[in-house]
Amino acid sequence: MTELGVNIDHVATVREARKTNEPDPAWAATLAELGGADGITLHLREDRRHIQDRDLQILMETVTVRVNLEVACAEEVLAIACRARPQQVTLVPERREEVTTEGGLDIVASEARVREAVARLKDVGIGVSLFLDPSEAQIEVASRVAADAVELHTGAYAEAARRHQVDVERNELEKLCITSKQIVQCGLRLHAGHGLTYRNVSPVAEIPAMHELNIGHSIIARALMVGLEQAVRDMKKLIG
Ligand code: PXP
Repeated sequence: MTELGVNIDHVATVREARKTNEPDPAWAATLAELGGADGITLHLREDRRHIQDRDLQILMETVTVRVNLEVACAEEVLAIACRARPQQVTLVPERREEVTTEGGLDIVASEARVREAVARLKDVGIGVSLFLDPSEAQIEVASRVAADAVELHTGAYAEAARRHQVDVERNELEKLCITSKQIVQCGLRLHAGHGLTYRNVSPVAEIPAMHELNIGHSIIARALMVGLEQAVRDMKKLIG
């Protein structure tokens, strides 16, 4: 069964739009759990544009499913992650000017730094996933740095699907399938996420050995119309 990690960053985005105290991501996490979420995902960005340190603290105390914390490979947030000890950390790249995480982590270019971060997190008992583009060269390095899982970046596939670019969509899905096999052969757990929606999620969820999908924007968008518990339930039904 493919597990669903519900990313609640955008609940905090709404709160931070007014720099006030509502809505609280902890409320959202509770409703997501009631809807069947297998995990709660949050991204503590270095610029703190949505999730704040306090959110992480509260969620670590209140969430009963597993917490997947996304952070950059940067000292300040790695130290916070080691103190908070979520069940899983996903290492992601970060650029201050980006609207959302734009590409996967380039671990070919930063192997030593990523290896050190993975070791540091694993030393305190945190499972580590690496957010990577579906590139064979990147995945080859993932097994060398002793990560537990790779989260494949599905953004290019999702964008092609959104634009109805059928050939590009098919090619991107093919890339995801090929690199998924490589991930499994390397003995790593297979995750995927970014840009997944109720319309495009099924082919990704059906990739053999897909263990976890992390989905945020589309679920929160639907939640505005139908409520979060229902939105999570709808997504759970689709990913089986
Ligand atoms: N996975 C990772 C590593 C991400 O950085 C994000 C966005 O924060 C997601 C999944 C969720 O993407 P989306 O909000 O497009 O579903």
